[in-house]
Amino acid sequence: MRSSAMRDMMAITQRPEIISLAGGLPDTSTFPPELFAGEMDRIARNSVAEVLQYGPTEGLDLVREQITSVMATEGMSVDAGDVTVTTGGQQAIDLVTKVLIDPGDVLICDAPTYPGAIPTFCSYEADVIQIECDSDGMRIELLEATLAELASQGRRPKFIYSVPTFQNPGGVTLSLERRKRLVEIARENEILVIEDNPYGLLRYEGESLPTLYSLDGGAYVVYLGTFSKILSPGLRIGWIVSPTPIREKVVLGKQAADLCTSTLTQNFAGNYFERGPWRDYVDELIGIYRLRRDTMLGAMAEYFPHGSTWTRPEGGLFVWAKMPEVIDTEDLLAKALGHGVAFVPGTSAYVDGRGINSMRLNFSGVTEEQIIEGIRRIGEVAGEQMFLYETMTSEIKLPPLDDAGETKDGAP
Ligand SMILES: Cc1ncc(COP(=O)(O)O)c(C=O)c1O
Repeated sequence: MRSSAMRDMMAITQRPEIISLAGGLPDTSTFPPELFAGEMDRIARNSVAEVLQYGPTEGLDLVREQITSVMATEGMSVDAGDVTVTTGGQQAIDLVTKVLIDPGDVLICDAPTYPGAIPTFCSYEADVIQIECDSDGMRIELLEATLAELASQGRRPKFIYSVPTFQNPGGVTLSLERRKRLVEIARENEILVIEDNPYGLLRYEGESLPTLYSLDGGAYVVYLGTFSKILSPGLRIGWIVSPTPIREKVVLGKQAADLCTSTLTQNFAGNYFERGPWRDYVDELIGIYRLRRDTMLGAMAEYFPHGSTWTRPEGGLFVWAKMPEVIDTEDLLAKALGHGVAFVPGTSAYVDGRGINSMRLNFSGVTEEQIIEGIRRIGEVAGEQMFLYETMTSEIKLPPLDDAGETKDGAP
């Protein structure tokens, strides 16, 4: 087992004096307290015995139904019977890995990948192969070459895990062409694709793309969702949509893990999505996060050292930045914490030590003022590191900078 860099940092980043650009926290302060009170009051009056009781392992029918209607807004047609409610999207990753991976099995994922998935993959002793991403997401030609190479060794990956839309951590989105090809590859090779999509509804610009699940129809794509980013991570409600043979195993895995997801929070979420103006709330979040994203991109252009590059996400919660090669972002983080600012160092998104000069920056859980100040402080400590390096070596080679200071290909 290895620890999650993000969870390790939680304790530090929750100190009030720290500006945390590290977490993936949605801004829960925007949720209307009277709406929360109204739902809880209704539960107190109508369903106390039910919400204080155990529930079915698969999840409450009301919630499974509501999950299908939320997925329908992203163009997916799903049978509620194929849904398993999980304790957050994190448990969804854990359960599919638990069910599908035996020690030593190969699984493939993005490079960089969701840092929280790495400890899960490692705890089930998977052999993790990461495929490089560029501004259009996972490079499918590299995936094909890797599959061919594995086949020549008589090996087959158990699954391909990807966050194709507004990726955590890269902020990039898999292009339509690559989506289609990935689904074809899954079919041709009979390999499962695990599509993890917490951010699809948080689009700030551009056209929506079909999910892998909708392109495939659910034959080879197992879909993972969560209410954490469009409602609340505190409720801990996620889900898996999978064909029956996998669903049955997932349910056995969940019974062993926690019997069932909280009936109290399922009731809350079920009622909220059935009744509440949830689309309005998502629209409100989109407005707030778009502004914060733009603020972050502007601050990076102003304060980050020459030679830095970064992605420009069309949605989601993260920007991925690459500093000049002389900077080790783990060292930088130690110094940045001393200056009261935190981020996730790039190495936590790789299994093999890559990402040394990269970092993931979150813009949803902090105010615009904090974003500007946080980026300014990171820029300052990075500038000091660069100066130190320069004076120690007296030679520094900087890559050419384009106009906006942004990466030319937007690659993570
Ligand atoms: C890609 C991805 N998957 C899963 C999760 C876990 O979400 P949850 O809070 O629902 O457990 C996250 C959280 O940041 C995420 O970014």
